[in-house]
Amino acid sequence: MKTAVIGLGVIGHVHLEVLSEMDTNVVAVCDVDETKFAEFPYAKGYADYKKMIDEERPDVVHICTPHYLHAEMVVYALDRGVNVLCEKPLCISRDEMEMIAAAEKRSTAQLGVVLQNRYNAANVYAKEQLGDDKATAAYATMVWHRSAQYYAQAAWRGTWDQEGGGVLINQALHTLDLLQWFCGMPNEAVASVSNLTLQNEIEVEDTASALYTGNANFTFFATNGSKVDFVPEVMLYTKDGSIRIAGDYVWHNNELKYFDSSKRVYGKGCYGTGHGRLFAHFYDCVEKGEKFPINGEEGSKVIRLILAAYESNGKKVNV
Ligand SMILES: NC(=O)c1ccc[n+]([C@@H]2O[C@H](COP(=O)([O-])OP(=O)(O)OC[C@H]3O[C@@H](n4cnc5c(N)ncnc54)[C@H](O)[C@@H]3O)[C@@H](O)[C@H]2O)c1
Repeated sequence: MKTAVIGLGVIGHVHLEVLSEMDTNVVAVCDVDETKFAEFPYAKGYADYKKMIDEERPDVVHICTPHYLHAEMVVYALDRGVNVLCEKPLCISRDEMEMIAAAEKRSTAQLGVVLQNRYNAANVYAKEQLGDDKATAAYATMVWHRSAQYYAQAAWRGTWDQEGGGVLINQALHTLDLLQWFCGMPNEAVASVSNLTLQNEIEVEDTASALYTGNANFTFFATNGSKVDFVPEVMLYTKDGSIRIAGDYVWHNNELKYFDSSKRVYGKGCYGTGHGRLFAHFYDCVEKGEKFPINGEEGSKVIRLILAAYESNGKKVNV
């Protein structure tokens, strides 16, 4: 299949590494910084993503750009019948969610969202233990370190208009998505977000706590203000006991039941092992004309949880 990648930054490189191990033909790459094309001599370089999509007509385009560009790029590709694999977060506002849902509905192509932690073997194992059930209650923590230097790497980071938020919409999104994957969607939220460590460096929150209730029940704490990165932890109460996941380990009713030793990580360790499996599944679905499960609606669920947390400011809001 003919493939193209938009955005040749940190994660764009990971996508191209995974694609190089798959049976795909990367025909074009796109970035506003044209100096990056030299690294990919096998693909034609474009500074304008619209021109690239119109001229190359790839089967799949990968979107690896800053958050505020995702929605317009997804819609442009879907409207031209090009399948899209979009990095998280799918988008950063309710208006964008609606635009994407409408484009997906009228398109002949399909949209996949890169929520690759759902493909980490330990999370897959935990999901299998639940079967068709949902966890009855849960909590999760994501405690990481992101420095002022990290945010200074690119102008879009740490801004409300371009990143769309801080720790919740960027680093913690994956763990919050797992909570709703295991528990189902709640319909109420109360949350507080704050900037505890980088007040002079970023506009957005580095710390968040949120309680989600109603149709599902879970509690979440996330911070980028730790001295070090800890492994994210998820604790689920089920109808017959508990499941605890810490990174690659899973305990079922307090007994260690599973350890993922596969260790094929693309990019940073914290990205997990899921990118390769998610890409393979998406391309398989496109090839066979089957529905990829993490579509626009599914990728929007965690965005709705995050936007509710931002809107809450200590008051109960609808998700
Ligand atoms: N799934 C994961 O675990 C994971 C990990 C890291 C990053 N990401 C996501 O990937 C996306 C990119 O993050 P990053 O860390 O690679 O950022 P980055 O800043 O390193 O790279 C972004 C790239 O996009 C390019 N770009 C900007 N505007 C463009 C435009 N209009 N057209 C074409 N190219 C443009 C920039 O020049 C840059 O090369 C974000 O959405 C981020 O949240 C996901």
